Amino acid sequence: MEIAWDQLIEKASAVRQMAHAPYSDFCVGAALLDDRGIVYCGCNVENVSYGLSVCAERHAVAAAIADGSRRFQALVVITDLSPPGSPCGACRQVLAEFGDFPIMLVNPGGERVKTSVGQLLPMAFTPENLG
Ligand code: THU
Repeated sequence: MEIAWDQLIEKASAVRQMAHAPYSDFCVGAALLDDRGIVYCGCNVENVSYGLSVCAERHAVAAAIADGSRRFQALVVITDLSPPGSPCGACRQVLAEFGDFPIMLVNPGGERVKTSVGQLLPMAFTPENLG
């Protein structure tokens, strides 16, 4: 199925505005499309106890899981970096829990980098490894 990337980018961009990032001033938005066509969004939420901060990608995954969603078709991550920012290592592992799907990294200037969970985390440790 064709992915409506523009629509996902719009949603990721909107949720990025909601980021709580007073310490890094680095706002991230993520929009995760599931196999039913539902989009789950997340932004980063920082904390004065810095280590408690959670990334946008993991918040999008948590929103999906809490809604009973398990199978994903696509993810958009938006930052204001050029070239567009890429998910951190922890988020890559969390995404790999749910298989390999395409990811578009974007920024507000219109740059787009297409990648995938598999490309971002080769030789991942996945649920299949535990049989
Ligand atoms: N951040 C994300 O939300 N996603 C990433 O993949 C990279 C980093 C957030 C965490 C923190 O709030 C800020 O960006 C700076 O690291």
